[in-house]
Amino acid sequence: MYPAPIGVFDSGIGGISVLRALLAALPEERFVYAGDSAHAPYGERGDEYVTARSQAVLEGMRRTHGIKAYVIACNTATAAAGRVLRDQHTDLPIIGIEPALKPGALATRTGRVAVLATHGTLSSEKFRVLRERLSGPVEFIPHACTGLASAIEKEASSGIQTHTDALLDQHLSALGPLGTEPGQIDTVVLGCTHYPLIVSRIQQRTGPTVQLIDPGEAVARHTRDLLAAHGLLATTQAPSLSLELLDSGDGQALSAAASRWLDGVASLTKVQAFATA
Ligand code: DGL
Repeated sequence: MYPAPIGVFDSGIGGISVLRALLAALPEERFVYAGDSAHAPYGERGDEYVTARSQAVLEGMRRTHGIKAYVIACNTATAAAGRVLRDQHTDLPIIGIEPALKPGALATRTGRVAVLATHGTLSSEKFRVLRERLSGPVEFIPHACTGLASAIEKEASSGIQTHTDALLDQHLSALGPLGTEPGQIDTVVLGCTHYPLIVSRIQQRTGPTVQLIDPGEAVARHTRDLLAAHGLLATTQAPSLSLELLDSGDGQALSAAASRWLDGVASLTKVQAFATA
C-alpha cells in the first residue's frame, strides 16, 4: 500500500499552475487533482455558492481518496471558504492560496503593484484585511479580470487564443502605465491560479521590465513544510503514476491542460468523472 495522496483543488484547470510546482517540490508524493469545471467559474459567483462547492469537493475527495492533506489551489475558493473548510476538517492539514501582496511589496521599486484576480477574491473580506495590513508605502491597484479564467479554460480545449488575447489586452490596458519609471506599475501579482498558465503572453504585453509574481512555488514550499511539521511526508518513492485527475465536468480542458503544462506526467492518466453528493 502506498501512503495517502495529497488533494489539490480548483474550480477548473487553474490549479494546474500550482500542481506543477507541487510535483517539482514533492516528487515522492502522490497527488489527486479535482477540477470543479461543471460549476466554474467561481470568481463571478457568490461566496455562498463557492463555499458549498468547496465543501462538497473536499468531502468527496476525503470519501473517495482518503487524502492526507489538501491544497486549495484557487484564490477565490480560499477567500470564500478557507476558514469554513479548516473549521470543519480540523484533522486535515489545509493549505490555501491568496494574492501574493507581500512578495509584490518586496519586489516593487516604484511602489505601485497591480493585483490581477477574480471579482470574488478582490471583493472578499480576506483580501480587504490583507491589503490593509500591507499597504503603507506601497499602493496596490486591484483589478478584476472578469471573464479571463473562463477564456483560459475554453482555450485549453479549443486551442483558439483570440478571445483570451482580447481580454488580456483589455484588462492590462485598464491598469494604466506599466514600467519602471516613477509613478508606473512595475509589479503585477497574478492573484488567480489560471493566470500563470499564460504568463508569457502577459509578460509580452507588460514588457520585460515588469515583474510578474506567481505564488505557485511558495505554496509548494509551504505545503512541504506543513507536511513535514505533521510528520506526513512520504518516505518511499511514489509509483510513476503518482497523479490522478478528477473533473466534475467533461474533463476536456483538464486533460488538455495537464498534458500541456505538466510535462507529460498526466498523459499517463485519464481524467475520471467526479461526482459530489
Ligand atoms: N483559479 C481560480 C482562482 O485562483 C478562479 C477561477 C474561477 O473564476 O473559477 O481564483
